[in-house]
Amino acid sequence: MRQKVKDRYFKSYLSSKEIDDAVSAVAKRITADLKDENPIFLGILNGSFVFASDLIRKLDFPMHISFVKVASYIGTRSTGGVTELIGLNESLIGETVVIVEDIVDSGNTIEKIVKLLKDHGVKKIKIATLLLKPNAYKKDIKIDYVALEIPDDFVVGYGLDYDGWGRNIPSIYKIDD
Ligand code: IMP
Ligand code: MG
Repeated sequence: MRQKVKDRYFKSYLSSKEIDDAVSAVAKRITADLKDENPIFLGILNGSFVFASDLIRKLDFPMHISFVKVASYIGTRSTGGVTELIGLNESLIGETVVIVEDIVDSGNTIEKIVKLLKDHGVKKIKIATLLLKPNAYKKDIKIDYVALEIPDDFVVGYGLDYDGWGRNIPSIYKIDD
């Protein structure tokens, strides 16, 4: 299926079933590693809200979830302009924090978030992302939990946007020019 999002065309790429299976597999790994650590899940807004919502409902152990906002992306090109975490309202000192991202592309965003969290005194940082573009990722930071690896194509849906549009699409579509 092909559909228009803003001014570009996108085609079906990952079905709801493929996404759900991948999220379940990651949830299982997170549970095995962190069920006794009372972790704080930190969703990175806006893109992670759908993934975070599905992920945490597959986790059956004591945890907190909180959301912060950073901004690094305009249109289809990364600007790498992350400077601060907005909306952090609980202390992270000595805590185990699981960063929940929609997608890791160049890794600029995640690198800056990790640095900011270290400055906040976090004890242990884990990273969970719905999508990773391994060919674009250039950083040394380990991405602990990757639901799905994808090529360097621009995708929308399941929380991911193109200039703010398409987040509500239930599955994932990729650019089709
Ligand atoms: P990075 O800093 O290059 O790793 O980019 C990370 C951010 O860019 C993500 O949190 C997304 O908001 C955005 N992004 C990267 N690739 C895509 C994509 O294919 N579709 C939608 N957003 C993307
Ligand atoms: Mg994002």
